[in-house]
Amino acid sequence: MIVRPAKNILGAVRLPGDKSISHRYAMLGAIAEGTTRLANFSTGADCASTLSCLRQLGSNIQRNPEGMLEIQGREHLQVPSASLDCGNSGSTMRMLSGILAGHDFECRLHGDESLSRRPMGRIMVPLRLMGAEISASDRDRPPLRIRGGHLHAIEYKMPVASAQVKSAVLFAGLLAHGATAVEEPFRTRDHSEQALRAFGAELSRSRNRVTLAGGQKLHAIETYVPGDISSAAFFLCAAALFPDSNLVIEGLLLNPTRASLLDVLRALGARISIINLEDHHGELVGTVKLEYGLLQGTTISGGQSVALIDELPVLAAMAPYTRDGIEIRDAQELRVKESDRIALVARNLRAMGGQCEEHEDGLRVPGSQRLHGAEIDSGGDHRIAMAFSVAALRADGESVIHGAEAAQISFPEFFKMLESVVER
Ligand code: S3P
Repeated sequence: MIVRPAKNILGAVRLPGDKSISHRYAMLGAIAEGTTRLANFSTGADCASTLSCLRQLGSNIQRNPEGMLEIQGREHLQVPSASLDCGNSGSTMRMLSGILAGHDFECRLHGDESLSRRPMGRIMVPLRLMGAEISASDRDRPPLRIRGGHLHAIEYKMPVASAQVKSAVLFAGLLAHGATAVEEPFRTRDHSEQALRAFGAELSRSRNRVTLAGGQKLHAIETYVPGDISSAAFFLCAAALFPDSNLVIEGLLLNPTRASLLDVLRALGARISIINLEDHHGELVGTVKLEYGLLQGTTISGGQSVALIDELPVLAAMAPYTRDGIEIRDAQELRVKESDRIALVARNLRAMGGQCEEHEDGLRVPGSQRLHGAEIDSGGDHRIAMAFSVAALRADGESVIHGAEAAQISFPEFFKMLESVVER
């Protein structure tokens, strides 16, 4: 994909449904009583992986004439006849493992080359403690083999802050005997808690600890999946780079555990307003308008790095165009995402003639830099492809994004939608 420099970002967009929420609604819908109906379900390949695994597990999933996804729930998933293909999706493998741990059959889960390199020990440890048999082929890397059933509740203190791990334990906890408690070192996205409540389960939270009683029955829901704020991040960061920009995003997910990007963009100097706030099954949704303000600089660390984990690549990619630069720390998790995102961001910034300092747990990108168009390597990682398409909009000369098709993983419409708001 060739990305040419832009003059301005102008217009209004509405984005496909949030990836994190789509995975959860599909998985819980599959084990709930009744038919779950979802409008604006994520269009990304990751959520399609979740749907195809659920179909292999016996779920009946169709599109109705209005375009809503309909998932007929069943009390127990069925033994799959083949290995479950999770594609590129860590969320599919980790969260579905929690549900499979509560089912009395054996199955296997595998993924693509990138997913086959990602750590699964973080879910294997708690699910084994709950009584599931679970093994990986190479240390803790996929493929996984799970033999579930007859789980008992645990109290689990997570060593890494991961919403996927928290969700796997809660989903297994729902199918276990007794009350499961999970405690996270930093607050992570709470969509599983909101979704479990929306489907009728009761759970409680005290600080960073969530407790859920096993054996609760879920009931189908009908809802609209709010626009994906991690996809919106590319548009918001692009708009923040141009003095005459004016971007409106309607129906956007604004759950406080996901919306830290707005705080960071405000701290950098962008002017942001929010209207039409609504609550959809515990998820905050609204319309966001962003206008330019002279971008200064900032440091992102600790719990803020956890909350912004998926937005850090685009923040790093826009950092050279801020006045004082951006420093990102406590983000070592970026190294075990779909790619080593710290290394790839550093490599691509340098390809564009930018300077940056790479650390084990993050990056320091100085501000007031001028970048030139370059050959960008996405490394097959959707967020890297999109982050550097944003950086390319303010560079001198055009850039070639190699592996741009990776955007399909979370946001197939990205390049087309970006063109619809770019002025040249
Ligand atoms: C996700 C959690 C995060 C995030 C991923 C989606 C989720 O991963 O990076 O894109 O939906 O729970 P971790 O749980 O590994 O932090």
